[in-house]
Amino acid sequence: VRKTLLVANWKMNGSLDLLSQMHEALLAKSYSGVGIAICPPFIFLPQTQNLFKDSQIAYGAQDVSDQDNGAYTGQISAKMLSQLACDYVIIGHSERRQYCGETDKIIAAKCQRALDAGLVPILCVGENATQKQNGETEAIVLSQVRSVVDSLTTEQLEKLVIAYEPIWAIGTGLAANPLDANKVHELIRKASLQTTRILYGGSANAENIREFLMQPNIDGALIGGAALKPEVFVQMINISEALCTKVY
Ligand code: 13P
Repeated sequence: VRKTLLVANWKMNGSLDLLSQMHEALLAKSYSGVGIAICPPFIFLPQTQNLFKDSQIAYGAQDVSDQDNGAYTGQISAKMLSQLACDYVIIGHSERRQYCGETDKIIAAKCQRALDAGLVPILCVGENATQKQNGETEAIVLSQVRSVVDSLTTEQLEKLVIAYEPIWAIGTGLAANPLDANKVHELIRKASLQTTRILYGGSANAENIREFLMQPNIDGALIGGAALKPEVFVQMINISEALCTKVY
């Protein structure tokens, strides 16, 4: 059984006020069928822990260092994140690949650090618009997935979550066609495990989440903009709750 997972990626947005609002909105009801996680900026993680520690809501970071410790000014280690009882860490988001020069090798090392510290990595993969136009989606996505998956043991792989985020769909309001996304998820599944949770990301919202989750290989969503609005995020959770967990 792959339990549906909805993850909010706040990116460099939000505030302590928004965190309180999110807390209020999310804890107004209980959830059973869907796993929920919020990934605010690092600086808000201690407060996130205070607010959500005894709740059903998991939380995590948006990045982690590929190093264990030492002279790496500004970086945050996986061990530090686990001290704050983080559950998840997003790794290899396209914005980090693009703006921070993260390579597949660095991303694989980050996943390793996260797993060593007991965190669940959410590995992000996806092609850009040009690659899509050139018909390179499969090759790009598979090589991004393989460069991490091939370096993990089966036991580690069992913990990994993968998010397929086509870059052209991120923040554009132009979500992928759910059927097309499902085909890419199917490929990712072949390169990972039957049990691996594979999330879709890219302009997911309350209007389209249902159709994505109805696809056999889409196990949840990594949500940017829509997860900055507590009422919309809760609405998306409610829609997901109404659909069932994937049984394979
Ligand atoms: P949007 O939902 O804002 O398109 O962002 C998706 C994303 O990048 C989540 O990691």
